[in-house]
Amino acid sequence: EKGGFASFMDKEIHDQPQAVADTLLGRLDTEGRLTLDEMHIDENVLKSVDKIVVIACGTAAYAGQVAKYAIEHWCRIPTEVELAHEFRYRDPVVTEKTLVVAISQSGETMDTIMAVRHARQQGAKVIAICNTFGSTIPRESDAALYTHAGPEIAVASTKAFLSQVVACYLLGLYLAQLRGNKFRDEIGTILGELQSIPAKIQHILDETKSQVLALADRNQDVGSVLFLGRHVGYPVAMEGALKLKELAYIHAEGFAAGELKHGPIALIDDGQLVIIVVPSKRGRDSLHAKVISNIQEVRARGANTVVIAEEGDEEVDQFASEVIYVPETTTLMAPLLTTLPLQIFAMELATAKGLDVDQPRNLAKSVTVE
Ligand code: F6R
Repeated sequence: EKGGFASFMDKEIHDQPQAVADTLLGRLDTEGRLTLDEMHIDENVLKSVDKIVVIACGTAAYAGQVAKYAIEHWCRIPTEVELAHEFRYRDPVVTEKTLVVAISQSGETMDTIMAVRHARQQGAKVIAICNTFGSTIPRESDAALYTHAGPEIAVASTKAFLSQVVACYLLGLYLAQLRGNKFRDEIGTILGELQSIPAKIQHILDETKSQVLALADRNQDVGSVLFLGRHVGYPVAMEGALKLKELAYIHAEGFAAGELKHGPIALIDDGQLVIIVVPSKRGRDSLHAKVISNIQEVRARGANTVVIAEEGDEEVDQFASEVIYVPETTTLMAPLLTTLPLQIFAMELATAKGLDVDQPRNLAKSVTVE
């Protein structure tokens, strides 16, 4: 069933163009408007929502963190992202006007199930974003928005992550459409960009896999890797670090690039591998320039700088030991592309070390205990 791939993870990484396309499928009408048939929550309730709380664990929580940037930008609804196990135990402020979005690949993560139950007891409406039809979380929620990634077998989540981001984006655009936000006119353009993503992911698989493999091979003895990102690149950096911990058992951390000078820069020493996710040059304000200076700062202290940047961004070249280019897209869509090299890097590094990438030690595919 691995379809000729060396591992399920390798197959699932290659399934991602399809996973994104399938998650979009059937959710647009002929006029390009979003139709979420599964949204069994009264429109008036959705219109009155004054806060969104995303609850999830691990990779699913990083998908939520990416989505926060999009949902707040498009809908102007304050959005928080919280680890399900923390949410449940701290007496959070949840009312009937809170929309809780529970993200889970398996639908069986006990921490997330308990958080869903807690939220509903407080009167909140819960939407599940889930990959497993009929599992506990969607069954116990008010509505379910399924990610159509297909079964994910490898313990480390890859295609589920991308489809979770896509499903959250659909939810955000749906709420913007429903509530008549100023971005309504732009929804068609955003959906058009979303539909161009599968081909761009395929391009990364075709064009950069061997480069990332060689990079992983060269770095199989590293003791730690730091990942830096800003804006949506920040959760992407944390996801890249998580993949490396899980699969290659290498100490890794994802930081917000702006936080570097507030402490983590002390970690930089000669030869330290730092992987930096660079925002688009056309993106928000001066973030590109700021991240470029972060690259210079760590490089000046001896770091080995590997940069993930947008095609055509030649400015990064002079400060990077190596640049991995991904196709151009908008700021908010970038995580659907920049995550790919990080997934491949972790998988190839684990493979180079002779580890089982589908079944990392100490981990289970779904965590059904609290
Ligand atoms: C990371 C990973 C885990 C899961 C987390 C939530 O690669 O697989 O961090 O993302 O345990 O699982 P689900 O999405 O099934 O609730």
